[in-house]
Amino acid sequence: MPESESMPESESMSESESMPESEVGQQRQVITIDGLAASGKSSAAKGLAQKLGIAYVSSGLLYRAATWLALHTDVDVTDEEALFAILSAHSLTLTPYHDRDNRVSVALAGETKDISSELETSTIDAAVSHVAKHPRVREWVDTRLRELCCQFVIDGRDMGLVVFPQAHAKFYLQASAEVRAKRRLSDRNEDFNAAVHAINERDRRDAKQSKPARDAIHIDTDDMTLEQVIATMLEHIRARGR
Ligand code: DC
Repeated sequence: MPESESMPESESMSESESMPESEVGQQRQVITIDGLAASGKSSAAKGLAQKLGIAYVSSGLLYRAATWLALHTDVDVTDEEALFAILSAHSLTLTPYHDRDNRVSVALAGETKDISSELETSTIDAAVSHVAKHPRVREWVDTRLRELCCQFVIDGRDMGLVVFPQAHAKFYLQASAEVRAKRRLSDRNEDFNAAVHAINERDRRDAKQSKPARDAIHIDTDDMTLEQVIATMLEHIRARGR
């Protein structure tokens, strides 16, 4: 398989087939990958996007950035109104690329700061579920995501069910807490039992907003390599184009 291949014509949606009115003209084509914390969705989404030659978008980064902003402006993460007020007051931008990771910037104290490298920390992990459960924060994130153009693979918790119900293809990745903790430890220097505990805790807190769409294809990744997961998704996408 070539390193990068554009989405074939035959796999494109016809405008009348499934794009909502507001998306017609933008030729939006979205593939959603949802799943629990550390289920491998971001690596799978990045790899799939690269194979298809389209951009990768991480929706979780917007929740992480909202959390970063709350922690840096001393806003209580349980205070929905105050969170919404800081999101409205500080321009927070997610920029996806075809060939590199998403960047996130925020306007703070008169300066635009790139905070991308400060979002994947244990401190943010511990607070982000509290921020993500507020409906007004979720609406703010969903609006930012729906403004993005045009073809992309996006990962998250509710991308297929809530944000892009008309997506071209939807996947939901599953893996046991132990396998997910091992994957997380290869990225971070943490204790295994503590990592399993943290993952179970986040599953519990994220459960309400982590729902697969009814038409999502479920993939259990416990015994699969990343390449196998990506190949499985590509097969489904090709089959849909036939
Ligand atoms: O995928 P992630 O670990 O970067 O997500 C960070 C947090 O944001 C996670 O605790 C759940 C939340 N999240 C969400 O509620 N909905 C999304 N679409 C993406 C992330």
